[in-house]
Order: sequence, then structure tokens, then C-alpha cells
Amino acid sequence: MATRRYETDELTVLWDSSRCIHVAACIGSLPSVFDPNERPWVRPENASAEEVMRTIRRCPTGALRYERKDGGAPETGRPETSIIPVPNGPLVLRGRLEVVTFEGETVTRETRLSLCRCGHSANAPFCDNSHVTARWESHDPGPAPRASQARERAASPAEVSAPQEEWFPEGDEQ
Ligand code: SF4
Ligand code: FES
Repeated sequence: MATRRYETDELTVLWDSSRCIHVAACIGSLPSVFDPNERPWVRPENASAEEVMRTIRRCPTGALRYERKDGGAPETGRPETSIIPVPNGPLVLRGRLEVVTFEGETVTRETRLSLCRCGHSANAPFCDNSHVTARWESHDPGPAPRASQARERAASPAEVSAPQEEWFPEGDEQ
């Protein structure tokens, strides 16, 4: 993680360069504050705290976050979770999210993040835009994904694949 901080009296803006993939939602929405050609590239003093927070909540990777200094409510995230597969790109998640290692250790709790699905990220499980250099294609099936005919015909797990080791221990049903 490589997080930089940008301060005003009301707000701290945090930017994690390891998670930014330059989709430019911030730059397009509020160019007076987010200008990649300036140093510092974030100048939160150039807009109201409300405008800055609203723009940050548009960042799909969670690279941008904020901490309030005025005692106001923090970003809570949507109560429902959504997962959007971006064509030829990551899975974009929104909600009340927790990334946990296979061993059960919490990596991060967030409201927005983009997960790699191409397998090329050097910052897995997060997308780092390597799908672009790898020229990865997602071959998404469209709005109504369909399983293969063999899977549609399967009458038991034995007809789907060879048995795998159980991934999660008993008691992890939730
Ligand atoms: S919206 Fe987020 S991911 Fe996109 S350029 Fe801004 S900080 Fe980076
Ligand atoms: S989907 Fe972006 S690096 Fe894999």
C-alpha cells in the first residue's frame, strides 16, 4: 500500500497509488481538485468538502478515500453488495466489503474496490491495470450467463467435476 494524504481543515483525502488504475472518475468529476498534471495532484481546498467527498465516492477502486475532521458520518457504503464485471477489466464491488486472506486474516474493510480477474495483477487480489498490458479479454457472455450444455445436463456434482478438497472448514457457513 502506498497512501498519500492531502489535508484541509475539514477533511483528509487519502490516495493509494497501488490501487489507482486511472479510470479518471475523479478527474472528470472535479478537475479543480483532481488534476494528474499538478503536484500535489489532489487539492481539496479548491472545492467544498461535500463536493470532494461526493467525487471520492465515485472512485471505483477505493484508491481514493476520505476521513472527516468535522465529526460527520464516515462513508458507510451501500447496505447491499453489487459486483460488476467490467468488460476486459476487473470486478468492481460496492457495499460493506471485507477482504480476508485464505487463512482468515482481514486484509481490508472497504466500501469500494476492484478485484483482479485476469490473473496478471502484481497487487492481487486488487486490480492494478495489468489486464491492459496483458491485453486480457474477458469474453463475458452478456446479461444472461449460461453454463455449458454438459453442466446444464448434470444430475449430481459427480457429473460436474472431479472432487476437490473442501476450501473452508466446518463452521464457516455464513
Ligand atoms: S477515480 Fe480512483 S482509480 Fe480512477 S483515477 Fe481517480 S483515484 Fe484513480
Ligand atoms: S483485472 Fe485488472 S489487473 Fe487483473
